[in-house]
Amino acid sequence: MTETATYQLLDGKRCGDALREGIAKGAAEVKAKRGRVPHLAAVLVGDDGASKTYVESKVKACESVGFRSSLIRLPGTTAEDDLLHHIEQLNKDKDLDGFIVQLPLPEHIDEEKVTLAIAPDKDVDGFHPENIGRMVLGLDCFLPATPSGIVELLRHFSIETAGKHAVVVGRSHIVGTPMSILLSRNVYPGNCTVTLAHSRTKDLASLTRQADILVAAVGKPEMITADMVKDGAVVVDVGIHRIPDASKKSGFRLVGDVKFDEVAPKCSWIAPVPGGVGPMTITSLLLNTLKAARR
Ligand code: GUN
Repeated sequence: MTETATYQLLDGKRCGDALREGIAKGAAEVKAKRGRVPHLAAVLVGDDGASKTYVESKVKACESVGFRSSLIRLPGTTAEDDLLHHIEQLNKDKDLDGFIVQLPLPEHIDEEKVTLAIAPDKDVDGFHPENIGRMVLGLDCFLPATPSGIVELLRHFSIETAGKHAVVVGRSHIVGTPMSILLSRNVYPGNCTVTLAHSRTKDLASLTRQADILVAAVGKPEMITADMVKDGAVVVDVGIHRIPDASKKSGFRLVGDVKFDEVAPKCSWIAPVPGGVGPMTITSLLLNTLKAARR
């Protein structure tokens, strides 16, 4: 007997496009009001292939909504002090609304130092402790792009969240931890009962099977399998991995942390990879940049 797929896609491209229309209008308003469009800069240190692709997508997205963007490429051998000096200049640059330093950084550079050096009012990635602290307290701030993109995705598709059990797998500073906080807030989308699972969690599958909403942010290709998912769950896949595939022209295919083909038929909604969370992350960055420009 063949299984009938009844799931719906949390389509990040569609949702992102809808939000970007509003962002483009916002950019035009900013231009009319202060004579220049919102301006985002991205700093890329070294030539990691994936980081280069992400940064280029961010720059392209800026163009698509009428923002100005600047890409600052620094060699992988850049000294930590030099990078900190660049950051100081960007902090002071009055023509710039916000900037990001693409992670990961080369090993000889301390990411924590870099994050702390970015002025909180230009930290459109929302990684500075001041922004994270304000997020925890529910104060106005720049929300980290990936979890806030997921929140917007849930909102766009009117996913019910109040009283649901959300299981977030992965406790990274940029995804899992802030995701757990956003889903537990007393607003929509939120009011979930949240379990934050991680590498030391015992019997992960028994927890994920209880999830009404499952956010997979582990960083392990296709780790979430059908036996780990409850029937009717909403599954959000944050992972993105290149898997060698000789049948593809590029020589690889993209997969997430979720084994899509076997998990999707069990879901009510699922965010695909690619085309789910990815486009939403970039949209959130644009929203933060617009917010910075309006301040
Ligand atoms: N590396 C992976 N995701 C991100 C992100 O959202 N921002 C930055 N700066 N680096 C990343």
